[in-house]
Amino acid sequence: MSEQRIGGTTGSAQIPNRTTHITGWGHEVPAATLTNADLEKIVETSDEWITTRTGIRERRIASKGETTASMGALAAARALGVAGIKADDVDLIVVATLTPDHLMPSTAVLIKGALGSTRAAAFDLSAACSGFAYAYAVAHGFLTAGLGQRALVIGAETLSRSVDWSDRSTCVLFGDGAGAIVLEALDLEAGQGAASRPGTLSFELSADPSGAYALWIPGGVGEGADPLIKMDGAKTYVYATRTMAAVATAAIERAGLTPAQVDLVIPHQANIRIIEHVSKAINYPMEKIFVNLDKYGNTSAASIPIALSEAVAAGRLKPGDVFCTVAFGGGYTSGAFVTRWGADPAHGARAASVDPASIRVVRPEGGAKADEPPAVLQAFLDRRHR
Ligand code: ACO
Repeated sequence: MSEQRIGGTTGSAQIPNRTTHITGWGHEVPAATLTNADLEKIVETSDEWITTRTGIRERRIASKGETTASMGALAAARALGVAGIKADDVDLIVVATLTPDHLMPSTAVLIKGALGSTRAAAFDLSAACSGFAYAYAVAHGFLTAGLGQRALVIGAETLSRSVDWSDRSTCVLFGDGAGAIVLEALDLEAGQGAASRPGTLSFELSADPSGAYALWIPGGVGEGADPLIKMDGAKTYVYATRTMAAVATAAIERAGLTPAQVDLVIPHQANIRIIEHVSKAINYPMEKIFVNLDKYGNTSAASIPIALSEAVAAGRLKPGDVFCTVAFGGGYTSGAFVTRWGADPAHGARAASVDPASIRVVRPEGGAKADEPPAVLQAFLDRRHR
C-alpha cells in the first residue's frame, strides 16, 4: 500500500534564515468566452457601460464538467511541470477558493487525487479574492517552520455558478479560471539584506468585519443552499481603493524597499478604475502594473496566480526582479506579498508537456451540480462547438 502521511512533518522548530521561492507556475482558463455583447442579450446592460465602468471586455465560463477542482488540478499539474518535480515531491496543497466543488471534500483533496499525489496534506482556504495572498502566507509559514520542502498554492474559481445571471450589477464582473504556483523552501546565506535577498520578502494581511454583509454568499449551514453573490458595489469600491493602497504600501515597507524598487505590481483584477486609483495613491506608474482583467474579468482567488503566470510568459518578470501582489475581497479581506523572482522564465514552456486528458478529477456517481453550467449560459457555451 502506498504511504499516506500528513505533509512531510520532518521538523517542528522554526528554521533560521529560511525563506521560500517560486519555482513553478501555471494556469488554466475555460475555452468558452462570454463577451460584453453576449451579456447584452442576458441582462439590460451595454458593452459601453461595462467597458468604461470596469475595463472588462470578456470573461471565461466553465463548460459542463469543468469545475474549480478540474481547472485547479490542470493549473497545478502545469506548475509541477514547470518546476520539474513530481506530485509526490509536494508536502502541502492549499487551495484558495470561494467556489469549491463541494463543502466537503475540500477542492484540495480532489486536486491531490487528480495529480496522483500520495503524500501531501491538502486543504482549502476561504479568504475570497484575497485568498491567494493568504494561501501563499500559510504555505510560506509551513515551509519556513520546517514542516516540508514544497507546497502547491492554488487559486481556483467557478464564479459563473455563484453569480445571479439576472443581476446586472454583479453578473458582468466575474469569470472562471485557476492559477497555481510551486513554492519551495530556500535557505539563505548569512547577511543577505533586503536589497539582494532572494525569494519571499514580506506579507501584509488584513480582515475587516465591517464589510461582512456588503459582499457575501449566504449559503452555509442553516442558510439553505443560496450560493449567489450579493454585493454593495459602491461600498466595496471605496474599501478596495483604500485597502489595496494601504496593504501594498505596508508590504513594500516591510520588505525594506520603496515602491521605486518594485519592478512589477500584480493587483487583483477586479476593476481597472480601482487599479488606476491604487496607481495614483501609491505613486506607482500604470505601465509597471500587470492587467489582464479585460480578458477574464474578476476570477477572485484565481486572478493573481493567473496574472502571475501570464506576466512571466509575457517577459514581465526576470530573475532578480521584485514584484508585489495586492488583493481585496469578501470579508472584507485584503492581502499583499512581496517576492524577488528567481526562476528562469523559459521553464514556463515545460507546461506544454502536460496532457490535460491525463489530469482527471474523480466525480461522484451520477455527477454533481457543480459540473453543470447555468442554463442561461448554455447557448453561449454551445456555439463554440458549432
Ligand atoms: N449595466 C448597465 N447599468 C448598470 C449595470 C450594468 N451592468 N450595473 C449597474 N448599473 C447601473 C446602476 O443601476 C446605476 O443606475 P442608476 O444611477 O439609475 O441607479 C448606475 O449604473 C450606476 O451604478 P453604480 O453602482 O454607481 O456604478 P459604479 O460606477 O459604482 O460601478 C461597480 C459599479 C462596477 C460594481 C463598482 O462599484 C465596483 O467595481 N465596485 C467594486 C465591486 C467589486 O470589485 N467586487 C468584487 C470584490 S472581490 C470578491 O471578493 C468577490
